[in-house]
Amino acid sequence: METGPNPNTFVRTLNANMKKSLRFNSKTIHGGQEPDKAYGAVMPPIYQTSTFAQRSPGEHKGYEYSRSGNPTRNALENALASIENGTYGLAFASGLAAMDAVVKLLSPGDEVISTNDLYGGSYRLFRRIFEPFGIHFHFVDMQDPGRIEAAITPKTKLIWVETPTNPMMNVIDIKAVSAIAKEHHILLAVDNTFATPYIQQPLELGADIVMHSATKYLGGHSDVIAGGLVVRNQELAEKLAFIQNASGAVCGPMDSYLVLRGIKTLHVRMQRHCENGEKVAEFLKGHPGIEQVYWPGFKDHPNHEVAREQMNGYGAMISFVPNGASYSDAVRIVEALKVFTLAESLGGVESLAGHPASMTHASIPREEREKSGVTDALIRLSVGIEYYRDLIEDLQQAFSVLK
Ligand SMILES: Cc1ncc(COP(=O)(O)O)c(C=O)c1O
Repeated sequence: METGPNPNTFVRTLNANMKKSLRFNSKTIHGGQEPDKAYGAVMPPIYQTSTFAQRSPGEHKGYEYSRSGNPTRNALENALASIENGTYGLAFASGLAAMDAVVKLLSPGDEVISTNDLYGGSYRLFRRIFEPFGIHFHFVDMQDPGRIEAAITPKTKLIWVETPTNPMMNVIDIKAVSAIAKEHHILLAVDNTFATPYIQQPLELGADIVMHSATKYLGGHSDVIAGGLVVRNQELAEKLAFIQNASGAVCGPMDSYLVLRGIKTLHVRMQRHCENGEKVAEFLKGHPGIEQVYWPGFKDHPNHEVAREQMNGYGAMISFVPNGASYSDAVRIVEALKVFTLAESLGGVESLAGHPASMTHASIPREEREKSGVTDALIRLSVGIEYYRDLIEDLQQAFSVLK
């Protein structure tokens, strides 16, 4: 039988051999990892088991039941902690399951201040799941951190930042938000899905919690749904590990393996994503049929200075609006793409295109999404690592459907 949560066990296993001194491009491969204890396997075996044999009740080799702990998942958790320069990693069944665990740190009556322009599923989780339990959410344009200060009340317990924002690519100054959070003793969590730790490391900038949809760049191959949290504070790690085990939305062994395998090439993939992202963004900006392009690498992007300061690259997520286009024009363009796949999600090696108004952001009411710029004609690209000329030619031919 499972013996229930034992925070001491979690902390011991999560904190093992972090290899803190390595640089980022080595941490992706070695961070928090050691050869498997049984046979020295270089990649952690997929411990596809629900439970572990005990010699005598409570006498086991460190694992008793795979919801509370599994060696493959722990290998991923150590890798997550390492690449985010944290101390404790926790792997979940999805990005939303990881977010769900963070909000469960709160109690009815508590308030959360969240980025207004965020992933539609995150908005839905806050509004439709947690608001009925008495947690209140304020959605604020965080490009001016002063607006956060204005929304703080004695009940504010969590600030939720997504940067760059999805899909408008606004950049929020994590250091400035962290100063406000610290002054008011409020937890700061950052969704680092778009940037990845290759580009931005929120714990270094003062965040308490980093969250990932590992489904995206960390996994990198569009073959897994997973999520992660990384923290430095032991007490916070213990609370989250308790919720992870007690609520049970853990990352399975096979999925943990896939994300771990993805992380090993994160730095090389991200380098190419950033190069291709720049090429595609410049192409769109120079195209006479395109009215607006949102990408933080442009010098005239409203938050470019913050991006330059806190990011080591501008990423490969780009949104744009074709000249005078309607909802149906945007749909015709995404339907015409041949190298870009029309699909939800992002961050895989293959380029994807999406229409936020009908796809990722359909769960946000129209007037709410339009306030933050998510208009009917907005198209979002996740630029992959194909040869960039093929991507540009594909966009060119798709734009011709509006002629
Ligand atoms: C920025 C962001 N955060 C969170 C999520 C949710 O992650 P998952 O789909 O793994 O639950 C997504 C998914 O698209 C996302 O884009």
